[in-house]
Amino acid sequence: MQTALVILAAGMGSRMKSSKPKVLHDVAGLPLIGHAMKSGAALAPARTVVVTGHGAEAVEAVVARLDPDAVCVRQTEQLGTGHAVDQARDALAGFEGQVIVLYGDTPFISAGTLQQMSDSDADVTVLGFEAADPAKYGRLVVEGDALARIVEAKDASPAELSITLCNSGVISADCATLFDLISGVGNDNASGEYYLTDVVERATSKGLRASVVTCAEEETMGINSRVQLAEAEAVFQQAARLEAMTNGVTLAEPASVYFSHDTALAPDVWVGPSVVFGAGVTVETGAEIRAFCHLEGCHVGPDTRVGPFARLRPGADLAASARVGNFVEIKNATIATGAKVNHLSYVGDAAVGEAANIGAGTITCNYDGVMKHRTEIGARAFVGSNTLLVAPVKMGCESMTASGTVVTKDVPDGAMAIGRAETIHKPGFARKLMQILRARKMKRDS
Ligand code: UD1
Ligand code: CA
Repeated sequence: MQTALVILAAGMGSRMKSSKPKVLHDVAGLPLIGHAMKSGAALAPARTVVVTGHGAEAVEAVVARLDPDAVCVRQTEQLGTGHAVDQARDALAGFEGQVIVLYGDTPFISAGTLQQMSDSDADVTVLGFEAADPAKYGRLVVEGDALARIVEAKDASPAELSITLCNSGVISADCATLFDLISGVGNDNASGEYYLTDVVERATSKGLRASVVTCAEEETMGINSRVQLAEAEAVFQQAARLEAMTNGVTLAEPASVYFSHDTALAPDVWVGPSVVFGAGVTVETGAEIRAFCHLEGCHVGPDTRVGPFARLRPGADLAASARVGNFVEIKNATIATGAKVNHLSYVGDAAVGEAANIGAGTITCNYDGVMKHRTEIGARAFVGSNTLLVAPVKMGCESMTASGTVVTKDVPDGAMAIGRAETIHKPGFARKLMQILRARKMKRDS
């Protein structure tokens, strides 16, 4: 059976105290709405509808970037979760299959949990959890093995408030059934809202069957404030560390390593303390990322060594057995097999050939203040320390530069470039100069 997702993301999130809509705040470098979409993607939905409201334009732009096939519909007034889902009615007209409702601010519903929801044979299925502190959650009123109704905390009797099985907000039902049930939902309750949760009681009163699937409370964690955002980040990071280690990655000090939502580390990668992975990083087997590195948008080939204290920026592509050492920044550059950039260098908009050696302090001068230019360094080239490569420029295979050279034109294969002022030696002058300076100082201090 086909599945459609409806993701509610119209709420304002005023407790974030932000000019940015709540669902656009990031966890592990991905906006909350992206996490909800990613959870739902586990069901390979035939359609995804996102209900936007506060900050709609900004949210819609992000949704379109993450999934060009997703449809956004606007809820201009936030009249409740039932009213919100109702906004997806036209977008899902003619859809035959199951609808699963998710919240845009609830990032951690697992694929396994959604699969259980999807496998349920009840007419309406609600995702519940045992709440440590049920507080304001809707309570699931279970009679026998069926779900009778959901009562919001505000509308609950003292007896109902003592129920600890709570509503996560995730709900699934056949599309036609769901919209039929929503049509009859009113707003005669303590909040004056159209509650999605009322579809349960309406279903049972029509002789339909409602049931509960349960999951761990952590999965249902919703973000309403910056504090909860930080808690969610911590939950994500802890899970990512455990997953990496389970998959065969060594983390020398797990708590200090930060992952992005899409970090991909192969088995037998070794990661030192205090390493940060931004978005879009893949690291292949046998590679070592030493302490205090920052990587984003890059690829590290097998058996390559990076750091300590290296920065790999977007477009850095390191082949096998390369070396990138301390205080080196690589941006939009390929470093071929066995090439070394070991110390204090900036390599940007460049191609470094196989087994080339880039000496300490080498800089590709890639930016003229207006445009970026490329540097190409041939295989087995030897770039002397403190070389400035003024792009666009090429160094041929097995070419060399003398230390301190400023390269402004192409160096042919096998040639050496020297471009620096010649040294003059003045015999005895150093000692003489020191004597003069010391004498001057003594005179001043006396
Ligand atoms: C809702 C549930 C409650 C459940 C809780 C779990 C209802 C009536 N109550 O309560 O049973 O325990 O979630 O967190 O469904 N939204 C819209 N448009 C609206 C209203 C809400 O898009 O008009 C979105 C919000 O942005 C949010 C989600 O729906 O992502 C939930 O809304 P919220 O107001 O937080 O619901 P709760 O009162 O917490
Ligand atoms: Ca809420």
